[in-house]
Amino acid sequence: MIRFNKNYKFNVPYGHKPERFAKAYVTKIVNQVKRLETIFPQNDWQFKCQSFEETIKEASEGDFIYCDPPYIGRHVDYYDSWDEEHEILLRDELYASGAKFILSTWDENKYRKNEYIDSVWKDCYKLNQEHFYHVGAREKNRGSMLEALLMNYEPLTAQDQKKVEYEQLSFVLPGMKQVGSMCNLQMEE
Ligand SMILES: C[S@@+](CC[C@H](N)C(=O)[O-])C[C@H]1O[C@@H](n2cnc3c(N)ncnc32)[C@H](O)[C@@H]1O
Repeated sequence: MIRFNKNYKFNVPYGHKPERFAKAYVTKIVNQVKRLETIFPQNDWQFKCQSFEETIKEASEGDFIYCDPPYIGRHVDYYDSWDEEHEILLRDELYASGAKFILSTWDENKYRKNEYIDSVWKDCYKLNQEHFYHVGAREKNRGSMLEALLMNYEPLTAQDQKKVEYEQLSFVLPGMKQVGSMCNLQMEE
């Protein structure tokens, strides 16, 4: 995570572990910032600071919404706390919009499970990713967590994804043919 305070100083606690700022890691951050610098001028972006209800109401079928709300049921330090009412309202607004959406949330850790996934979000498809939290004000908030991406459409499997990449590649490079698995390509004689 990268976060700066009002004085533009880096303010993510890192425990003063020297390996947290390994050269390769700093290079990675700088490259990401550089990439944003090239992407930003390519589009007419609009950044709005408003509640999700207003934002989602601006969307309709054919749009794509990515939501990263405060994690329900976990310690949230934002201005207003996030509760079940917010979670349900967010779900209702997302479905009412008719847009495709992805929402990131937590699934489980060794202590607890996110019960809202099987209730509020029960109609969603789910993908999981293991994540290790190095940053956290309290020691018990650090550690391994299973994260979830919830979506209202069936996500591509890894196999489908490779097929799409293959089709895109063979469109760009017509001399390619598929050999063996989906991702092995070779030039046709
Ligand atoms: C998990 S954080 C998202 C972090 C963000 N993806 C980023 O990379 O900076 C959740 C965010 O939801 C915002 N939030 C809380 N209540 C909200 C509401 N009613 N409408 C819109 N955003 C809200 C919080 O201020 C916080 O910034």
